[in-house]
Amino acid sequence: MRLKDKVILITGAGSGIGKCTALLFAKEGASVIVNDLNPESGNDTVSEIHEANGEAYFIQADVTDASSVKAMVDEAVSKYGRIDVLFNNAGISGVGKLHEVDLDAWNKTLNVNINGVMLPSKYVIPHMMEQNKGSIINMSSCIAEMGLADRASYSTTKGAILALTKSMQVDYAAYNIRVNAILPGTILTPFVRNYLKQSYENPEEAIEKIKTRQLSGDLGRPEDVAYAALFLASDESKFMMGSPLYIDGGVVFGKDA
Ligand code: NAI
Repeated sequence: MRLKDKVILITGAGSGIGKCTALLFAKEGASVIVNDLNPESGNDTVSEIHEANGEAYFIQADVTDASSVKAMVDEAVSKYGRIDVLFNNAGISGVGKLHEVDLDAWNKTLNVNINGVMLPSKYVIPHMMEQNKGSIINMSSCIAEMGLADRASYSTTKGAILALTKSMQVDYAAYNIRVNAILPGTILTPFVRNYLKQSYENPEEAIEKIKTRQLSGDLGRPEDVAYAALFLASDESKFMMGSPLYIDGGVVFGKDA
């Protein structure tokens, strides 16, 4: 019960990493506020937590919409009295080289991935300041450091999240709020499967090729990231402030295929 009595808001918790983390956090004793744009998948996450006798509550909101994010935070605080941990996990992909990319698609990726971190933080932080305690986990990606092909908009957002994490940490350290970032490598989720389907004729072959770039020799699974988030959410990480935490099977070091 590493998160006993903690109230935790996870954005984009209807699928992939967010869902897996919500299930783990509930198992570790947290009350989990499950956010997603998609009510069906968000409610599925909550049902699975309830079936395992955990505590969870779904709030539908688009993380890019200021008024619905504010309403979500108000509803969460009125239900549970506070928010101890915010996991800014929701995000979308963005594919293409800069000269080919459509401006609307570019703006959408920046909006979801950057404002989708900024807005929940903006409305949760005043509650954490009042509590004089909090942990915020921002979802970046190892792509922020790597320069992978055809991912200009997505890389831009994940780099911005790293910079934002450091800036937030400096601004709110005096309120005992910790802000850290997670940088996953390729984790097999619906997000990655869709990207592979869009980008490769044979996605299974692409997976085998990606595996060869990992020092680990395999791709990550959602639980690999969920356990890192568990550490950052718990007080065990109380000395981590503004840090990037890589969960990437060593892909940033590169490997001769
Ligand atoms: P996923 O696509 O399985 O889950 C993302 C969830 O976010 C979905 O349930 C979706 O409905 C929700 N969402 C999207 N836009 C939203 C919005 N505007 N408001 C609220 N919810 C919204 O994706 P996955 O793989 O679990 O990724 C989660 C995060 O991890 C993303 O930020 C992604 O960029 C990041 N990441 C993923 C990696 C991977 O290999 N899967 C690697 C590095 C980072």
